[in-house]
Amino acid sequence: MDKLVYSGKAKQMWTTDDDDILRVIYMDQATALNGKKKDQIAGKGKLNNQISTLIFEYLTKKGIKTHFIRKISDTEELVRKVNIVPLEMVTRNIAAGHFSTRFGIKEGLAFETSVEEMYFKSDELDDPFINESQAKALNVATHNDLSTMWAISREVNKLLTELFKTVGLQLVDFKLEFGKTKDGEIILADEFSPDNCRLWDLKNKQHMDKDVYRRNLGDLTSVYKEVLERLQKQLGGS
Ligand code: C5P
Repeated sequence: MDKLVYSGKAKQMWTTDDDDILRVIYMDQATALNGKKKDQIAGKGKLNNQISTLIFEYLTKKGIKTHFIRKISDTEELVRKVNIVPLEMVTRNIAAGHFSTRFGIKEGLAFETSVEEMYFKSDELDDPFINESQAKALNVATHNDLSTMWAISREVNKLLTELFKTVGLQLVDFKLEFGKTKDGEIILADEFSPDNCRLWDLKNKQHMDKDVYRRNLGDLTSVYKEVLERLQKQLGGS
């Protein structure tokens, strides 16, 4: 019998017959403000699964090691089991969201060098900002772990900035999570979808990501569908 090993805000993870493989279920749930705003949105799980599959397959093709194995249904995928490093690694190319509110900077300022921030994954503590020495003190990650995660984040930023540009979207910022395999290798985990990145339409600067939900700007599923369709046109498949 499969067992539930993790139940998050938008995904569940279940065991499979293989100890090294987990099944992810994408749920029709949207949350913001660390779960304080929450809604059921029909079709969202399927869209996130489709978009994340395309992105992870693309990154794999480009040599990035990830936990993704394959999509097995509209809302499910198989992934390698890893020990998640409890850090959210955020990369920003353009000022938006909390960077803008925290530092009083207008949204839209392009950074010469991408801004890199880390947050400690903890719902109870509201994902506090964390720096390298704090991460080391808490035994969350070593210097080498962090170097590896930032090196992969920079590569992902390069690859996806290019990819999204080809479909008329600007990759404003994004959050990655990583996990350690049983051999101790750090690989990309979690998902990549408009839930965990900001995408602005290159022509009209329209928000094409979860800010549509966070800021009540319109219908989330039609925006995610548009992102999916543009990627499908460019990449084919799924
Ligand atoms: O809210 P903030 O501006 O810090 O978000 C930066 C980026 O990280 C955004 O793309 C957002 O979607 C993502 N993020 C996330 N999960 C969080 C916090 C931020 O995916 N818990």
